[in-house]
Amino acid sequence: MFARTRYIAWAMQFYGKVPYDLATSGIPYVTWSELGLPAPDVDDPGAFAALRSAIARYNDVSPAEVVPALGTSQAIFLAYAAMLSPGDELLVETPGYEPLTRAAEGLGVTVRTFERRADEGYRVAPERVAAAMGPRTRAIVVTSLHNPTGVRVGDDAIRELASVAEARGAHVLVDEVYAPFDALPEDGVFRTSARKLAPNVVAVSSLTKCYGLGMYRVGWVLGPEEIVERAEAAAIATFGHAPLAHASYGSAVLGAVGPLSSRAKALLAGKREIAERWVASLPGARWSAPEDGLFGLVTLPGRGDLLSSIEARAREAGVLVGAGTFFGAPESFRLSWASCDAARFAEGLRLLAPLASR
Ligand SMILES: Cc1ncc(COP(=O)(O)O)c(C=O)c1O
Repeated sequence: MFARTRYIAWAMQFYGKVPYDLATSGIPYVTWSELGLPAPDVDDPGAFAALRSAIARYNDVSPAEVVPALGTSQAIFLAYAAMLSPGDELLVETPGYEPLTRAAEGLGVTVRTFERRADEGYRVAPERVAAAMGPRTRAIVVTSLHNPTGVRVGDDAIRELASVAEARGAHVLVDEVYAPFDALPEDGVFRTSARKLAPNVVAVSSLTKCYGLGMYRVGWVLGPEEIVERAEAAAIATFGHAPLAHASYGSAVLGAVGPLSSRAKALLAGKREIAERWVASLPGARWSAPEDGLFGLVTLPGRGDLLSSIEARAREAGVLVGAGTFFGAPESFRLSWASCDAARFAEGLRLLAPLASR
C-alpha cells in the first residue's frame, strides 16, 4: 500500500500561501498565452508519436529509449514498476525526496538508504553504495541535482554506481529533474542526460522544475529496451494512455524550451550569491554550497528538529523554507531562490534570520 507522503502534505499546507516563498523548488509557472505558441491540433492522434520524438530530441537520445509520463512523479512510478518486483530491495540516498521511498514501498519493495554526508559535501560515495548492496538489490536511486542540497552527482560517480549495479544485474535510476540547471539549454536540447553514461542507467525527468511548465505534466522515462518495454506494460495496465491533449500540448511546449531557458536564467541571476552571503553571516550555520540550481540545504548544527520553528516563522513573518525534517535532515532547511525576485528574496532572508538565533 502507498503511505501518505508527509512532505507533500506539508507542502500543500504551506507552499504558495506566504508572501516570502523561499521553499518552492521550481521556476515560476509560465502561462499558455505568455508562451505565444500556435494552438496545437488536439484531435490529431499523431501527437502521441510526436511527443515521444520531441522528448527524444530534447534529451538527445533515440525515441526507442523514451516512455512519456505524467511528470517525473509518474515516471518514477513507471521506472520502479519496470525495474522492481515485490520483495526486491531498492537503495536510495538520504537525505532524500520522500516520494522516491513511498512509491517503492507501495510496490511492495523494501527500501534501504545510503548516506550523502554533509562532511563529504553531499557527494555520492560509490564505495558506500557498493557496501550496502544486498542479494535482492535491484536498483540504486540518486537525484542530480540532489534534492534537497542541490549538489550534482558527477558522471564518474554515476558510471561507478552503474558498474556496482551491473555486477548484480541491477539498474541505476537517476532523477535528473533539476539537472539542466548547470547549462540551461537555450537551443532546446539537454545533451547531458545520465541515460547516456551506461547501458543500465535509467533516467527520469520532466519540464517541471527548470522551465515553469509543471502544469503540463510533460515527463518521461529514458531507459534501455527491456525497461521501456516493461514501463509501457505498466502504463497500459494502470492508465491505458495519457489524454491526447497531454501529447498535443506536450510536444508544443517542448518547442519552447529554448526561450524558457533564457527566462529561467534571468529569473535566477545573482540570487545564489545572495543566499551564500546570507548563510555566511549566520553564526554557526553551514550550507551545501551547490554550484548551480535554485536551492541549497542550510544546517544549524545542534538545534534539533527545526520544523516547529520553521512553521512559526511562516506564521509570524510570512517567510517559508522547506523543512529538512521531511528529507531526513531535521536540523536543516532547504532554501530556494526560485520564486522571489532578488529584492524580495533578500527581504525574505532578513525575516528568516531569527530562525538561526532561537
Ligand atoms: C527530485 C524530484 N523528483 C520529482 C519531482 C516531481 O516532479 P514532477 O512535477 O515533474 O512530477 C520533484 C518535485 O519536487 C522532485 O524534487
